[in-house]
Amino acid sequence: MDRGNFGNRFTAIMAMAGSAIGLGNIWRFPYMVGQNGGAAFIIVYLFFALFICIPIFLSESVIGKRSQLSTFGAMEKYAPKGQWKWLGLLTVFTPLIIISYYSVVGGWSIEYLLKSLSFSFTDPQLSRDGHSAIFLDFVSSTWKPILLHTAFMGINAIIVMAGVKKGIEKFTKISTPILFLLVVLIMCYSLTLPGAKAGVIYMLKPDFSKLTGSAMLSAMGQAFFSLSLGVGCILTYASYLKKEESLLHISVLTSVFDLSFALIAGFAIMPAVFAAGIEPGAGPGLIFETLPFIFSTMGLSAPWLSNIVAILFFVTILFAALTSSVSMLETGVAYLVDEKKMSRPAAVGLLFAGCWTLGVFCSLSFSSLADFKILGNSLFDFCDKLTSNFLMSFGSLLFALFAGWKMKRSDVYDELTNGGTLRGSVKMFGVLYFLIRYIAPLAIILIFATNLIL
Ligand code: PFF
Repeated sequence: MDRGNFGNRFTAIMAMAGSAIGLGNIWRFPYMVGQNGGAAFIIVYLFFALFICIPIFLSESVIGKRSQLSTFGAMEKYAPKGQWKWLGLLTVFTPLIIISYYSVVGGWSIEYLLKSLSFSFTDPQLSRDGHSAIFLDFVSSTWKPILLHTAFMGINAIIVMAGVKKGIEKFTKISTPILFLLVVLIMCYSLTLPGAKAGVIYMLKPDFSKLTGSAMLSAMGQAFFSLSLGVGCILTYASYLKKEESLLHISVLTSVFDLSFALIAGFAIMPAVFAAGIEPGAGPGLIFETLPFIFSTMGLSAPWLSNIVAILFFVTILFAALTSSVSMLETGVAYLVDEKKMSRPAAVGLLFAGCWTLGVFCSLSFSSLADFKILGNSLFDFCDKLTSNFLMSFGSLLFALFAGWKMKRSDVYDELTNGGTLRGSVKMFGVLYFLIRYIAPLAIILIFATNLIL
């Protein structure tokens, strides 16, 4: 069966960068930088991206590109006897859990895009608490968030149903560059606001005293989430690469794009937050409660301009969320198509039904199911913590160990250097292989241990 593949290097990188760039870059990264020591955090984050994330990215992509299969099949191919494939199968569930709650937030961004299109952020009288109340009213209502979650999942299903070339490639090769353009435009606008300087200082001033052990671990966790590692997404996308592509090239470029997007998003959001005289909030609240307030107060002098920026901003969030969520759905679909020989439409339909249902419960955890707790967390928070704190680190460890210890060294060498023909990769191979075998697994075990203890 023709699995499809990415047409060229540009489209492959746009698809991978699209998966990496998502809600994690727009709301998580900026406030983490602020809370954990500004530039000091960025330096540590860069260090982790280089020495841990790139080796894991390479491990996943070596397994995927070599096998031309998705997670379970790839592991079965190289380790038919052991337990590896079952562990691999576990990772197939991670992106499906993530998409269920991610899609709820995707639905919220559709709501806010519609609000901005109807010029709803123009009332300068409304306080920040007023905007928070509107947000809380919306998420705690029953039907509208479910309807929008359904719409968001539906868009994903349509894109993934169309296949790798006609769906994912076509969508991400247009939307990923647009995302960059939009976020740069918003940053330019933010930086010109009076009082923006405080936001820039907030992002750039290195405060090494805040760089505690837990800040370092947050940096590592954020780096995994942001690069979509440990869930088989990169593995699956790499299985659609043409043989002549350079994995080192692709992994470095994807990481650079992801990091630059996070930094630009930080410089787009923080100056606006400070210009409006607000303490930087955390999590989804920063986007959905604080920013509408900022748009309406700034609208005093030029309401049309602030409304256009609001529209651009919520389009950016929606596109960023979509390019990530299609990669999650595709990972599950690839497994069903490769291993269970399902047709693509049947696989998409089955996963749509499962993820949609879990997502409905996640959405209801803000309303009628608010009292239903798992280990003290609402279902939404539980799914988020389970995946980002545990399952992603587990998957990353598994892939690094598999490429480093289970696959033959000669196979890894062959795939990373394209049979010794890529000079740069040949030179770097010794270092990369050492990072894959020793440094990345040890670092992940450290995160695991700390997450269990804390
Ligand atoms: N990298 C995405 C973000 O930063 O929002 C999140 C993500 C995408 C996580 C794909 C997991 C995944 F499989």
